[in-house]
Amino acid sequence: MPDIIYRPRRTRRSAAMRDLVAQTDLSPHNLVQPLFVVSGSGIEQPIAALAGQSHLSPDRAARKARELHDAGVPALLLFGLPPEKDPVGSYAARADAPVQEAVRRIKDAVPEIVVICDLCLCEYTDHGHCGVVRPDGSVDNDATLPLLMQAAVSQAEAGADVIAPSDMMDGRVGAVRSALDETGFHETAILSYAVKYRSAFYGPFREAAGSAPREGDRSTYQMDYRNAREGLREAALDVAEGADMLLVKPGMPYLDVLAAVRAKVDLPVGAYHVSGEYAMLEAAAQRGWIDRDAAVTESLYAMRRAGADFIATYYALEWAQRGLCR
Ligand code: PBG
Repeated sequence: MPDIIYRPRRTRRSAAMRDLVAQTDLSPHNLVQPLFVVSGSGIEQPIAALAGQSHLSPDRAARKARELHDAGVPALLLFGLPPEKDPVGSYAARADAPVQEAVRRIKDAVPEIVVICDLCLCEYTDHGHCGVVRPDGSVDNDATLPLLMQAAVSQAEAGADVIAPSDMMDGRVGAVRSALDETGFHETAILSYAVKYRSAFYGPFREAAGSAPREGDRSTYQMDYRNAREGLREAALDVAEGADMLLVKPGMPYLDVLAAVRAKVDLPVGAYHVSGEYAMLEAAAQRGWIDRDAAVTESLYAMRRAGADFIATYYALEWAQRGLCR
């Protein structure tokens, strides 16, 4: 009897053979493009902290939506920079806020594109926290829920297909679901940032959205990166509260969590390749320290391999347009 030894036989694999047996693929339809919207018109102002990304007025966001759709990217994720901030983030629920205006313009221009609205107060509050702050500086979870509910309904009224709560208040998915149902938006879906860690990798985003907390940090409501099992509990809770899709965030540093959530939950699961991950790739590529195209493609594949059905990434439009998804 000969010894039976498995041999990978990689040296015999042609490119066609490698394609034939590849376990993971990546297409434009796996990607979601985040966009930052501001009031006004004709504005496309580059964001210093996120090279290649811009603040867009609603008309320019609609133009971008057309480009995304033409490139085969099915969805975009909107963040808003309001003209004014206050302690309770009033602009989040205003019909004339930049996000709501952008949703209407995008849906007019490109009805087929999936419009996802990030739902959080941090871009709208003057203190920069994701919820209402008590006099002692702590965040009041339960006082925040009604404000999120109003903002979600306002986004749905504007025409959003998907509401994506990213605030990490307890009970928000159930609260938003009931608010949407009570106002007739039964068909508006919820993409929950179920598993969102307190992360240093959000740095450039906070500059882009002007949402860094003025005092303190988000450690009382975002998750501790030492904990993976807690991520599974958060995911299970959001499923029970009525989420339609889940998001794990950040992406690359949390592939273990992504894979664990994927294995446990039967809803679609996405990964958010966040601003700090983008900034690291861009900075290293700019210095010639890494091959940009290869490193970005490998990063996107890593999240797909770990189980992401879709990836929110600042590379979505470029990767789709340049045909780098395969
Ligand atoms: C809002 C929100 C943040 C991000 C997405 N939604 C910032 C934060 O939690 O501080 C980060 C996205 C990125 O870094 O690209 N709460």
